[in-house]
Amino acid sequence: MSDILAHHEAAVLTLTFNRLDKKNAITTSMYSALADALTEAASDDTVRVVVFQGHEQVFTAGNDLADFLSKPPKVVEGQPPAPVFRFLEALRVFPKPLLAAVAGPAVGIGTTLLLHCDMVYAGDNAAFSLPFVNLGLCPEAGASLLLPNLVGFQRAAEKLLLGEAFYAEAALDMGLVNRVLPPSEVNAYAQAQARKLAAKPAASLRITKALMKQPLTQLQGLMQQEIVEFGELLTGPAAKEAIGAIMEKRKPDFSKF
Ligand code: COA
Repeated sequence: MSDILAHHEAAVLTLTFNRLDKKNAITTSMYSALADALTEAASDDTVRVVVFQGHEQVFTAGNDLADFLSKPPKVVEGQPPAPVFRFLEALRVFPKPLLAAVAGPAVGIGTTLLLHCDMVYAGDNAAFSLPFVNLGLCPEAGASLLLPNLVGFQRAAEKLLLGEAFYAEAALDMGLVNRVLPPSEVNAYAQAQARKLAAKPAASLRITKALMKQPLTQLQGLMQQEIVEFGELLTGPAAKEAIGAIMEKRKPDFSKF
């Protein structure tokens, strides 16, 4: 069975993280599947809404840590973009309503991808985290612009600089999620909202979304800059120490970095 399930029904495309044994950590091939699915959905008139979902106990543990070490994504002049960069760009430009149903941990890109969603529903067990600094990295997916825009600079700084997990009620209070539900109800609720949207006039939805996003003129350039900085940091000593420490189940030592 695929690590990304794609289910198309009633004009709603549902993309499900399906790698439970690794807490839905996202590999290069999963990014490819997500990027392809979003790109196709953008121009497929039979898809009117896209929903991301995980499992009742976990949304996603973020980027696969082994992949980070063995295949660090980097921008190389003249080479096609890495699958994660294709996915991020597809998210940024996705023209139709994008929803997410989040239960359990949503780590790293599991949280930053939500900043590109139009509506987010969370289980009361949802745990969001942006552990980039703790991994010797920096934010991605435009989070360094989108999060301060959404929640204010100091609240964003606390989340991004300390990298501590925060939970469903805090995410609701910050405006990152629209509604908190029992974990067993989150996916169904997001589907119901998606179906409501799918019944609305597609051009009005598309234009409304585009108008709401229009002021984000710096997003594309900032995402490019994040990608470059992230790629440099990922092959640096602090990231190697941090990721090595997680894999060896020990505390990292940043005293030299
Ligand atoms: N990449 C690769 N494998 C991962 C992973 C990741 N990001 N997150 C979890 N896994 C794997 C674990 O290595 C473990 O594999 P194993 O059974 O072969 O040993 C399995 O998933 C279960 O993980 P475990 O940590 O035991 O689950 P948990 O329920 O105690 O905790 C998380 C879940 C998500 C909180 C925890 O796994 C975690 O923090 N993961 C790392 C997240 C991270 O730093 N991501 C990068 C973001 S940029």
